[in-house]
Amino acid sequence: MSFTHINIGSLLAPTPVVMISCSDRDKNFNIITIAWVGVVNSKPPMLSISVTPERYSYGMLMDTKEFVVNFVSEELVKFADFCGVKSGREINKFKACGLTSIEVEELKYAPAIDETPIFMACSVREIIQLPSHTMFIAEVMGVYAKDYLFDENGRVDFKKAKLVSYQHGEYYATAEKLGFFGYSIASEEVLKRRMGK
Ligand SMILES: Cc1cc2nc3c(=O)[nH]c(=O)nc-3n(C[C@H](O)[C@H](O)[C@H](O)COP(=O)(O)O)c2cc1C
Repeated sequence: MSFTHINIGSLLAPTPVVMISCSDRDKNFNIITIAWVGVVNSKPPMLSISVTPERYSYGMLMDTKEFVVNFVSEELVKFADFCGVKSGREINKFKACGLTSIEVEELKYAPAIDETPIFMACSVREIIQLPSHTMFIAEVMGVYAKDYLFDENGRVDFKKAKLVSYQHGEYYATAEKLGFFGYSIASEEVLKRRMGK
């Protein structure tokens, strides 16, 4: 079968979609939805988000150099969309969505969203100016998961988190497990334990 050229710039799918909560120095909080997010280092754990300078959140990120990555569950996806089409310049998105801000031990200003299943506290280490976006490279200072997500072995069961992915303008559910790291070479016994088959 042949391929057809698609003229749509940088297409990567699926990407995560996350709600980034941030703040100014007076603790005015905001949420911006971001799909251009990725892991960039393991020791120390680091990730990047790319934000255009027009965003209201941009000034907050530049000033406080901290933010929280809130994972998007199926329950939160409508709010994630809302926070990605409305600006904090005009409305308080925490209030408009009925979301609750909570303090994060590792950070001075940025709050987490209490309704998220998992969040990561991030502290900006490097800023790279690119032609359209600014890339904030941050160290992950703490990762938190809600208690209901843990299985009997103390592992986070991501199926329970019902996380959402993003594919070229659309949101998709991700809760179906297809395998696990190394499952292609795992023994029958491990497959049975981890996959139930
Ligand atoms: C699914 C989705 C993904 C988005 N990803 C990004 C992104 O990676 N970078 C970015 O600068 N804006 C992104 N946006 C747009 C911002 O979230 C949007 O402009 C938002 O209203 C900015 O809010 P603010 O002005 O309060 O900061 C995305 C929007 C949606 C809906």
